[in-house]
Amino acid sequence: MDPLRQPVRRHSLVRRLVFASCRHAARWLGGRAWYRSRYLGPGRWELREERLPVPGLPRALHGFRILHLSDMHAGPFLGAGDLKAIAQWIAGQMPDLLVLTGDYITHAWDDVLAIAPDLGALVPPRGGFAVFGNHDYRGHQEARIAAALREQNITCLENKSVRLGELPLWVTGISDLEESPPEAATPCRPELEAGEFELVLCHHPLGAPALVRPGCVAVLAGHTHGRQIDLPGLRALGPSHPGLRVNLGPTTLYVNRGLGVVGVPVRVGVPAEVVCLELVPASPSDSRPTSRMSRPRGPT
Ligand SMILES: [Fe+2]
Ligand SMILES: [Fe+2]
Repeated sequence: MDPLRQPVRRHSLVRRLVFASCRHAARWLGGRAWYRSRYLGPGRWELREERLPVPGLPRALHGFRILHLSDMHAGPFLGAGDLKAIAQWIAGQMPDLLVLTGDYITHAWDDVLAIAPDLGALVPPRGGFAVFGNHDYRGHQEARIAAALREQNITCLENKSVRLGELPLWVTGISDLEESPPEAATPCRPELEAGEFELVLCHHPLGAPALVRPGCVAVLAGHTHGRQIDLPGLRALGPSHPGLRVNLGPTTLYVNRGLGVVGVPVRVGVPAEVVCLELVPASPSDSRPTSRMSRPRGPT
């Protein structure tokens, strides 16, 4: 078996019926409006600023900032305009690159159309890149999701790498490790030359150890929602969460807790978040990654 591949999770019929009942009830009771006001408004969502010192980082990449969004889950609890407050804030930050790590939808592919314009408004001049999450393969309509994102100048990387023009930085996108077609499971990654670096987008964080190599500065993932409901007995309902930042030697794994939800429009102990990763040159006195969390209150 490919070391990257992860076991496909399938829930029992009883669990699916219970989840569907909760979802329909929450939707009927106004769950989308509740989620928007409670978790996506000013002062509610979290900005996580990650600073990553990289040995030998070329001057052209000093201070390079990557805006990372994940797990929007457009559908019952997130739709058109719900990311507006966040998008307005981000518009003032001028990152160098936008990356998206999957789960744009929960059930229906065309729900992505409701959030695509908000995502497109965030694409900086260096571009926007995306990978699929497990939910994006629902109904085998991922090509339509890719087309919707492409209209917003966001490129889906399905086991592909692209170099950012003259910059010595490659962006590699890994197709989802659970639900992508098995024949697409071999990622194509470049041989890195001296002075070149790589950033990997991979929805499923548990694939990160198999992606580590010299020059690969970071794997950016999502999928876990940070457990979404971080309470004893409930946190195990979702995918395994390895932590927000995991040191894997030459590569650091960053797990984004996402902007949306599945099942119920509730997060407990886990804010919706946006991650901004900044690459800085490592020095003897500055070689450890650091992070800072804040709750932006409005557009800058
Ligand atoms: Fe997700
Ligand atoms: Fe996922």
